[in-house]
Amino acid sequence: MSEDYKKYEYDVIVIGAGGAGLRAAIEAARSGAKTAIITKSLLGKAHTVMAEGGCAAALQNADPRDGWKVHFHDTMKGSKWLANWQMAEYHAKEAPDRVRELEQWGAVFDRTPKNLINQRNFGGHTFPRLAHVGDATGLELIRTLQERGIHEGIDIFMEYTVRHLLKEGDRVTGCVAYTRVDGDFHAFSAKSVVLATGGITRCWSVCSGSWEYTGDGHALALWAGAELRDMEFIQFHPTGMVWPPSVRGILVTEGVRGEGGRLTNSEGERFMFDYVPEMFAGDHAETIEESDQWVEEVVSGKIATVRRPPELLTRDVVSKAINSEVKAGRGSPHGGAFLDISHRGEEAILKKLPSMHHQFKELAGVDISKEPMEVGPTAHYVMGGVLVDAETQETTVKGLYACGEAASGLHGANRLGGNSLSDLIVFGKRAGEFSAARAKNLAQPTIDDSQVQEAIRIMLEPFNHEGGENPGLIYDEMRDMMQAKVGIIRTESELSEALDDLKEFEKRRKICYPGSSRKYNSGWHQALDLKNMVDISYVATLAAITREESRGGHTRDDFPVPEDEYWGKTLNIIWMEDGEIKIRQEPVEEMREDLAKVIKEVKEIIAERAAEAGGED
Ligand code: FUM
Repeated sequence: MSEDYKKYEYDVIVIGAGGAGLRAAIEAARSGAKTAIITKSLLGKAHTVMAEGGCAAALQNADPRDGWKVHFHDTMKGSKWLANWQMAEYHAKEAPDRVRELEQWGAVFDRTPKNLINQRNFGGHTFPRLAHVGDATGLELIRTLQERGIHEGIDIFMEYTVRHLLKEGDRVTGCVAYTRVDGDFHAFSAKSVVLATGGITRCWSVCSGSWEYTGDGHALALWAGAELRDMEFIQFHPTGMVWPPSVRGILVTEGVRGEGGRLTNSEGERFMFDYVPEMFAGDHAETIEESDQWVEEVVSGKIATVRRPPELLTRDVVSKAINSEVKAGRGSPHGGAFLDISHRGEEAILKKLPSMHHQFKELAGVDISKEPMEVGPTAHYVMGGVLVDAETQETTVKGLYACGEAASGLHGANRLGGNSLSDLIVFGKRAGEFSAARAKNLAQPTIDDSQVQEAIRIMLEPFNHEGGENPGLIYDEMRDMMQAKVGIIRTESELSEALDDLKEFEKRRKICYPGSSRKYNSGWHQALDLKNMVDISYVATLAAITREESRGGHTRDDFPVPEDEYWGKTLNIIWMEDGEIKIRQEPVEEMREDLAKVIKEVKEIIAERAAEAGGED
């Protein structure tokens, strides 16, 4: 029996309404394309709001010695040299213009005494580089882009979940969605489709993302034949809330450490000092000497040379340090570490970190201007994602684009804090521009009814399993399993157990029963989300078992050091063939000569500065 559905026609469809999706849609519409955004959630709810502390761009307001070259260097180094250097170049060069553009569109950034956009310190950035709005930068960015989007005539479909990409031969020609409220079906013809669906961290039980973060775009791309890369690299942000249990995982911005927050263990020790030499031993010794030990920091509006606090080492390092302290029995009462900013005083805290003050007061009954917070690692971001062309953001399937967290390349094995907001405005713009340019030369694709009916059949499948298990149980168990076996520290045996477990979850998912109604049925939504979550968890686990080394957001207890000779030069490429997930390795493209020179030049500058600063503390 064929099902009814509504039909729509657009030049460009953007799936996702976070920063990347909004920026892509604005650019596509500005280029003259008839553009729509489809979001499974509501406007203003995207994970972009969880990038609280700021947006990285070498504006040179806090330190005139900053510039695109230093930002490029920091991004490549932070990525453990696996970032796509072409993307890192575009990002470092274009981020300042994208931030200034946001300001012109009404974003109200914090100011310096000279009325410039203020910039704060974050881990791995040589200079204070994060343009910020207190500790609610992502929210302000989304607000600004939404307001701008309204004036570009973009159509918005809220609470529509896309479950299938339509194809004609080897190109994408649209998508099929259902409405969450009433369970009706909708087919969209599109000349270009942009995936801006964010990440996958809902696959872990302790995460900073909300319910939307179920790997939809990654799965849509995989099912449509596109390639993914390096899905093993998961960023565990060092500071999520650990107590009370109902809020475990909610983000505590790195801005707290950027403003001087100190981490201590149950013995009152500032333990990060102990992790600096160990974590950067061997090949990485230069990191401390050249970059992480000495930096310029803005203190009370004046530039002063100070020692960079070890709390501002990169996120992978700080997360693993907290994890080790807890394992050694020196954790806080609820299994984390203490983070204290109270020495900055109430006035500064209310000015610079108002949301954190409110969050802890309301959710944990803690006044952070008087007492420390309890924090621990939380799954926050996936560095891997859909493989895209650096310039255009087109995936390996024609007509399908990806940007923001759904895409991969810019962050390699580890993302620097603040580089996500700049990523999504730089590459969101590019995705919008190039997807619209492609659409200009194409006729409107015809909606293929047989593909739509097949997509609807799959969406309705869970209703056939009366008496089956509740999808919510599978959902919770699967997330706990990923947390336990594909977490911060991984081993071959746990990863292979996880692959077996995922095969079992797949069997259970296929026969779960969400109840009989299509209206307001969150069980049905969860049953459908489980399909992406199982596939994408499998992809991440397969990539993790394949990479036999420790690098950035992937730590193997059985292979504890980076293996630069092979894995430092190799990417994991993942795709689906006849329903089976496959993986192969590909060499990293050698860095362009002029960019390699830039890296050398910046290293020399940083070494000189370290020497100049030598002896100061
Ligand atoms: O800690 C934070 O404010 C997060 C920022 C980011 O992930 O870029």
